[in-house]
Amino acid sequence: MTADLPLVLGIETSCDETGIGLVRGHNLLANEIASSVDEHARFGGVVPEVASRAHLEAMEPALERACTQAGVRLSDVDAVAVTAGPGLVGALLVGVATAKALSVGLGVPIYGVNHLASHVVVDELQHGELPDPTIGLLVSGGHSSLLLVADDAARIEPLGQTLDDAAGEAFDKVARLLGLPFPGGPWIDRMAADGDPQAIGFPRGLSTERDRYPYDFSFSGLKTAVARWVKAREAAGEPVPVADVAASVQEAIADVLTDRLVAAAVDHGVGHAVIGGGVAANSRLRAMAQVRCDAAGIELRVPRPALCTDNGAMVAALGSRLARSGVAPSPLDFPTTSNLPVTRRSW
Ligand code: KG4
Ligand code: ZN
Repeated sequence: MTADLPLVLGIETSCDETGIGLVRGHNLLANEIASSVDEHARFGGVVPEVASRAHLEAMEPALERACTQAGVRLSDVDAVAVTAGPGLVGALLVGVATAKALSVGLGVPIYGVNHLASHVVVDELQHGELPDPTIGLLVSGGHSSLLLVADDAARIEPLGQTLDDAAGEAFDKVARLLGLPFPGGPWIDRMAADGDPQAIGFPRGLSTERDRYPYDFSFSGLKTAVARWVKAREAAGEPVPVADVAASVQEAIADVLTDRLVAAAVDHGVGHAVIGGGVAANSRLRAMAQVRCDAAGIELRVPRPALCTDNGAMVAALGSRLARSGVAPSPLDFPTTSNLPVTRRSW
């Protein structure tokens, strides 16, 4: 049955991960990742030019490894999907140029897809077709949004978003304040395991403005509060309890995200929710979301951490969904863009 479904190759190069995925239907056959994160670490953030060059070097070997892992040849591929945006344009261009060349060379259709929608749809590889409708919480390094995903994932309607920093950005900035390496999210997660989440009551952004911003987020005040708290400790000559700060920050971020997720689902009468994006790998966010969704009678789906952070399988998953739904492929001259809106799944 699934053998009849198209074999979709997914290519992801929006940031510092060269991701190649191979998917048939909802079946994940390969998910190869080459990361240039170590090359950026000493700069404290991703250097676009360095990322682009790394993609160029990693692309062909990653394609080879993915085909080997899946036990297929490139000539078996029925469709190519590639991240067209949002992301670093120079980095995106490497993936898009590769995908276009493969599309022409293999004579197969191409889908230029949205990275953000891919973060939501990737869950289908683990838990099957997304329920319709579903509330999506998308939390990555550059974006934080609450979405109503409806009409077989054809309609992605933004309900709320961050007014300033993204959740991942908040994790990364706080980690930097604490002297932890980049990217900081996984480090905060790790350090928090030995800390007390109630040690410090960091602010929950927009909590006093729920009427005006029911499903929005704000994390810049949190970052400022942590900076002040750390500075005060240092000024007093006291050591900074890194584990307690990490646990308290993580608690504040998870609290706000899960609170709005449940509110959006309840208010819209939607009984299903999905979390996607790199921050969805956070252990406290996953645990708190589960407890709160259970209490509210909402069925929660969160993909395993390896599918949350950037990867090629998520791109292939969205390509597979578009191909199955009979969506027209993208014209070969589709562009890359740094700011593709989440409402647009593909070109
Ligand atoms: O989705 P993603 O891999 O890339 C973007 O599209 O931005 O997300 C990266 C973000 C980074 O900010 C990183 O620190 C954060 O996800 N992240 C985490 C965890 N793993 C990755 N944040 C908190 N806890 C984690 N375990
Ligand atoms: Zn991402």
